[in-house]
Amino acid sequence: MDKLIIKGPNKLKGEVRISSSKNACLPILAASLLFPQDIRFKNLPGLSDIEFFIKILESMGASSQADGESLIISTANLHNVHADYELVRKMRASVLVLGPLLSRFKEAKVSLPGGCAIGSRPVDIHLKGMELLGAKIEISKGYIIAHTDGLKGCKIPLDFPSVGATENLMMAAVWAEGETTIENAAREPEIVDLANFLRQFGCEIKGDGSSRIKIKGRDFKDYEVTSQNSYQIIGDRIEAATYIIAALMTNSQIKVLNFDPEHLASVIEILKKMGAKIETIPQGVEVLPSGKLKGAKVDTAPFPGFPTDVQAQLMALMGVADGLSYIRENIFENRFMHVPELVRMGMDIELDGSSAIVVGEEHISGAPVMCTDLRASAALILAALVAKGETEISRIYHLDRGYEKLAEKFKLLGAQIERVKE
Ligand code: UD1
Repeated sequence: MDKLIIKGPNKLKGEVRISSSKNACLPILAASLLFPQDIRFKNLPGLSDIEFFIKILESMGASSQADGESLIISTANLHNVHADYELVRKMRASVLVLGPLLSRFKEAKVSLPGGCAIGSRPVDIHLKGMELLGAKIEISKGYIIAHTDGLKGCKIPLDFPSVGATENLMMAAVWAEGETTIENAAREPEIVDLANFLRQFGCEIKGDGSSRIKIKGRDFKDYEVTSQNSYQIIGDRIEAATYIIAALMTNSQIKVLNFDPEHLASVIEILKKMGAKIETIPQGVEVLPSGKLKGAKVDTAPFPGFPTDVQAQLMALMGVADGLSYIRENIFENRFMHVPELVRMGMDIELDGSSAIVVGEEHISGAPVMCTDLRASAALILAALVAKGETEISRIYHLDRGYEKLAEKFKLLGAQIERVKE
């Protein structure tokens, strides 16, 4: 297992190019199950979650072939509709194969994903929606066993704007008969990217980005292989937010490129309220030296609210800001695992149920710390960049799930960071 050694405090300069969005890639890879043809993905990020998702597709008979910078995936010769427990348990997003399999093949057997470090994360909203579309679902021996004589479009009101459920149901509706309307749909940019991908294959989808998404279903028999078979995925807004916060914590000037700042509007707004100087430039933003930021009060919420995936990184920034800050985590019940580690580095954070109260410290210091989940790990990197002395971060396989070439990118920005074998 590798670990990271960061010597602080650091100052950053230069520019960083953001990779493609992990959370957009995963549903789009799942959507390749809908179309029996070669699809060229131009810019898949080198992340363990992506490699893993491709393994799940391959386990069903999909082929993948590298061609220069691109990867060509084909699900033309799929031979089974079974996503095994051994694969699914490693990544919750695997459940995204359910909708496309049911839509195209009228059956699917997918392991229930179970809990994960940040919360119980059930899939009841996904299943309820599939049932409304006409799927018969049985849970047996830890598996979701679903079949249908043919899905039929309908109105699906979601109890909560779940990102994964919205994506799964959009894909299920592609080969359903008639129109499907998803009410209280998630509005995240990754949903819009999935809709753009589906439209490229002739799907009629309206309203993505709003709370009501309409999908006009078609008969799979009418599908014609298209010539437009390549897709470029959006930049990763969460990765971008992490680098922006890194620049602010180290009082540095850097350009963060290859993402759409509109996707981070709520984050940039809060950071500006805290005193950050951030300017929009072509292809991204420039962060200017902003001095010590002020504390803030933030609630996580579904898009366009403040993203839960940036909560840990923002908390690291609050830990060295001026005065008192307050965070309430409204999306996941157990997403504060970074707190004990940040406290070990000298931050003053107190938890009260789903809230955290942070008192900004003048100085924090390096310490041996441990990654617990993807974004919690990012918070530790950020803290290490400003901590005095050496921070040793172990279990960094969590970071490899969602940050492409993290050590290289920070090194290019001038950080003193090394990846070493444990
Ligand atoms: C996606 C993102 C994840 C992000 C999250 C919220 C991917 C691969 N992952 O996860 O990084 O943190 O959105 O923005 O895109 N819930 C239920 N029942 C369900 C579905 C969800 O109770 O059927 C609950 C979950 O337990 C959680 C909340 O709803 O508390 C949000 O979940 P959801 O929006 O579905 O997140 P994911 O799609 O899993």
